[in-house]
Amino acid sequence: METITLHDKTFRPFIPYDRIESAIDAVARKINLDYEGCEDIPVLLCTLNGAIMFTSELMKRLRFKCELSCIKLSSYQGTRSTGTVLTTLGPTCDVKGRRVIICEDIVDTGNTIVAMQEMLEDQGAEEVRICTMLLKPDVYDKDVKLDYVGMEIPNAFIVGFGLDYNELGRNLKDIYVLDK
Ligand code: IMP
Repeated sequence: METITLHDKTFRPFIPYDRIESAIDAVARKINLDYEGCEDIPVLLCTLNGAIMFTSELMKRLRFKCELSCIKLSSYQGTRSTGTVLTTLGPTCDVKGRRVIICEDIVDTGNTIVAMQEMLEDQGAEEVRICTMLLKPDVYDKDVKLDYVGMEIPNAFIVGFGLDYNELGRNLKDIYVLDK
């Protein structure tokens, strides 16, 4: 794999697709252990746009009845979090009395998941669990429990597999890191 350029920045290969797939396999196994045989129908809540690829790969591996819903929030501009989380869409179903599994692409400061969890609890969700493909443990400083984590990565800016730099890079199959 070679370096790529998106807008004004260069990125180098970081996590190949086969490692992403293994991480998703492991997360799906854990979720199946917790939910297989359940009598309710949990809601998988995909956080647009970044978690689209992760959610679709994860869903294929789940072995219980579930519904898919989407939500769109924004806190990132360019390569930095603005700290303010805005909801721009959804959740696209009624979560009252439902168990919700939030599917996130990446947890960085944690501002997004904290805001989402509060909102879902305000809307009457019975339980909210967090599932994230990636976590930056050196940055995450919130108390919210992360129930399912695919992979931990250092504090670096990445793109690919759904993640973007100013909307570019989402379609890359592998993950790339900003080349400083
Ligand atoms: P948080 O609110 O700081 O945890 O940020 C979460 C959101 O910021 C993620 O859902 C991503 O959309 C975005 N984000 C965080 N880190 C990165 C990154 O390294 N690359 C691209 N987007 C990121």
